[in-house]
Amino acid sequence: MPFAEDEKRAGARYERSAPLCDLTGTRLKSWNIVARPVQGAQDARRPEWLGYTRPVAGPVDVDARIAANHRLSDAYNILELDAPEIALRTRPGQFVMVKRALGREPLLRRPFSVFEVLRDADGAPTGLSLLSKQVGSVTRDLFRAQPGERLRCLGPLGVPFSVVDPPTRAWMVAGGVGLAPFATLAEALHARGVDTTLFYGGRSSNDLYRIPFFERLGVRVVLTTEDGTRGESGRVTAPLARELASAAGQPLMLYACGPTPMMRAVAELSARAGQPVQVSLEPVMGCGLGGCYSCVVRVLDGSARFVRSCLEGPVFEGNRVSWADLT
Ligand SMILES: Cc1cc2nc3c(=O)[nH]c(=O)nc-3n(C[C@H](O)[C@H](O)[C@H](O)COP(=O)(O)OP(=O)(O)OC[C@H]3O[C@@H](n4cnc5c(N)ncnc54)[C@H](O)[C@@H]3O)c2cc1C
Ligand code: FES
Repeated sequence: MPFAEDEKRAGARYERSAPLCDLTGTRLKSWNIVARPVQGAQDARRPEWLGYTRPVAGPVDVDARIAANHRLSDAYNILELDAPEIALRTRPGQFVMVKRALGREPLLRRPFSVFEVLRDADGAPTGLSLLSKQVGSVTRDLFRAQPGERLRCLGPLGVPFSVVDPPTRAWMVAGGVGLAPFATLAEALHARGVDTTLFYGGRSSNDLYRIPFFERLGVRVVLTTEDGTRGESGRVTAPLARELASAAGQPLMLYACGPTPMMRAVAELSARAGQPVQVSLEPVMGCGLGGCYSCVVRVLDGSARFVRSCLEGPVFEGNRVSWADLT
């Protein structure tokens, strides 16, 4: 089928599509993701009935000017990039592949969630921000970057979160820099009037940022730190487990991003509570476009198979991931 026709058909069918797949055996009307035809570049996925999971709107590759670099601590910073073409297309949970525009090193770009979509006074997207934690060469470049410099920036990429509607409540569970995909998700949930909670944990208070951003959106924030310097002492899964027990039988959607052990624990807790969860995995990614297979993860779709998480993820249903194969 010619590509344009295929897109047209995809858009038309998808707009009137019924509830999408569910995680618990219950059909969730709140799982509708409306994808419009490609010319609008507005929305998320090709419909599953066509067998596609790639974004309808293709990514764009730009040399994005750095508008600001906010250093939050010795390790964390937020970079603001002028990239309206990408910001316009971005859906909650999608990511970009970036590296410095100048120089040959490093060869490969690195993946980063779009943290915020930046807008002008009229609400038009002007750019995006990245929340970065220094771990190696590219995150060090991002930390040191100066306004006016440029980053090669390809995106948006990947399957976004499915955004629920009321009366389903949303619980976002973030560990450290795993907060990154939740700012755009919180905005989307706020726009739909969803009652939203953020469970946000870090090793210490130096790992917790931008809490007022979420509070301004009406998000209830539950904080934990392992050293007890802010919020409840211990892991973020402790208050989550307590609240899951008291929310039995209520319509909930969990979203998780952070270290793999945390996401595995959240997936186990939600499975035990009979609640669905979407996890945003963070495997090493070489290209972000499906070409290098560095990002494969094992999923359990009846039988186990490997999928490229840059194409079929980074967002997965928690019960689909073969957690035993993830380190
Ligand atoms: C979809 C996606 C979204 C992401 N979003 C963010 C984000 O918003 N903010 C952020 O700070 N980071 C994010 N990451 C992780 C980020 O991509 C890595 O930290 C980054 O690639 C490190 O690059 P580097 O050059 O600084 O470090 P490198 O020199 O490449 O690596 C330094 C060390 O970190 C390890 N490492 C590198 N990547 C990963 C990884 N993905 N998982 C575990 N260990 C790794 C390496 O093995 C090495 O030991 C995301 C990853 C994915 C896949
Ligand atoms: S990152 Fe290259 S195939 Fe996924």
